[in-house]
Amino acid sequence: MSTARTIPVWGRLDDTAAWFDANPPAGDQDVVVVGAGIAGLTTATCLLREGRRVLVVDREGIGAGETLRTSAHLASALDDRFHVLARQHGKDGARLAAASHAAAIDWMEALAAGHADCEFKRVPGYLFAHDGEADGLRRELEAAREAGLQVEWCEAGDGLPATLGPALRFDAQARVEMGAYLDVLAREVRDGGGRFLRAEVVAISGGQAPELELRNGTRLRARTVVAAGNVPFHETGATYLKQAPYRTYVVAGQVPAGAVPDALYWDDADPYHYVRLRETADPARMQLLVGGEDHKTGQDDDPEAYARLQAWTRERFPAVEHFREAWSGQVLEPADGLAFIGADPDNDNVWLITGDSGNGLTHGTLGALLVTDLVQGRDNPWRELYDPARKPVRAGGEWLRENANAALQFRDWIRPAQVDDPAEIAPGTGAVLRRGLHRVAVYRAGDGTLHAHNARCPHLGCVVRWSGEEKSWDCPCHGSRFEARTGAILNGPTSEPLAPFDLENPG
Ligand code: FES
Repeated sequence: MSTARTIPVWGRLDDTAAWFDANPPAGDQDVVVVGAGIAGLTTATCLLREGRRVLVVDREGIGAGETLRTSAHLASALDDRFHVLARQHGKDGARLAAASHAAAIDWMEALAAGHADCEFKRVPGYLFAHDGEADGLRRELEAAREAGLQVEWCEAGDGLPATLGPALRFDAQARVEMGAYLDVLAREVRDGGGRFLRAEVVAISGGQAPELELRNGTRLRARTVVAAGNVPFHETGATYLKQAPYRTYVVAGQVPAGAVPDALYWDDADPYHYVRLRETADPARMQLLVGGEDHKTGQDDDPEAYARLQAWTRERFPAVEHFREAWSGQVLEPADGLAFIGADPDNDNVWLITGDSGNGLTHGTLGALLVTDLVQGRDNPWRELYDPARKPVRAGGEWLRENANAALQFRDWIRPAQVDDPAEIAPGTGAVLRRGLHRVAVYRAGDGTLHAHNARCPHLGCVVRWSGEEKSWDCPCHGSRFEARTGAILNGPTSEPLAPFDLENPG
């Protein structure tokens, strides 16, 4: 019953590849933005509109990191829930969080206006109880109202699929066709005079003129650097200790148009489920995107995640059929539910946008608006709320739990190897084995070829684990991920790939 993974439904923006230069422009730069996803491109757009000169650097291209792995829910009704946010950030903080995400949706709506292919549409959002218990919903109703949201109690059948039970209905949420939107955003950068450089940044250091080091050894200097590439890989305020990496899964089925009201849906389970509709070329059919089954990266890898998502969907949306697409993505969960956006605590004139919390499109967009104000010397009412230097003290239990969990993963160094002999590894799979003091990550490709790398994660030294779902090496400590054949970086915070390992001469 499991579904083979595919690329996300938004496709790839391959025709933008030609926009990238192979070498940086001569001389010192004005602004360098690292990362060509939602946060980086929106920041570039905003700073170009301020008259700044902007160079966007990315190792893979437009949206090639996590942005196009989104399911593209645009919500100011945050799934971390407002009674929790009010406890962690105060009632004023919860109000500012709601307002900032609403402002991000407004900004995206303005950009998408006039671009019909973006299919930007305001839709309601429904939060429902995963077990039919309404007490949690009542508490959230009050907290969401206090945070300034337009929210109503809603009974099953009151515009809702009967299988979902009572729910809270939030107005003015939205959905967007992510590939088309990112294309519009990227063209905005290009047409606004922005430049693109394909390169891997391996280090950033702050100062009067911050410096970036590229993989090929080239150094770039700029007046301002914005690190907007999902997760920082440079030394900065130990951000990796304040946010935890999770894999999340999405399946896409089809429903007859009108069978499910056009809305966003999410429940209060942990991990939670999230659902939205998407238009198709056939007006009689809609696509139903359903996500969930989150687990910590490198831990509890389970090839049945997609099958469970399909079963969950059939139970609640019985009209669904034809599951054809499935993919996964990486989410960074900040300990206190809100992204880290603003001045890099350790590097002058460097700015951070990280910690998507599963709301990467709105966090990335509001991050761009906030950073633009700060870079341009203007204050912003959201500055303190998202300050990367903040300690998530009111979320202390969660913070400690996540870090204790990460520390526990170092026990892999004293565990027995998964296999002793590479001959035990089946084609298309990987396993960690022991050679002397080393742990070795060995992948056997479909043609039988072995690819061996030192299993020590270059970030802080955990042992990577095989992900059968993504066919990658994933670090269970802070979420770095590596390509199976080459050891190349798929996700940070590592700035270095896995080192090759010679099985014949282990050293
Ligand atoms: Fe931190 Fe691997 S990501 S040790």
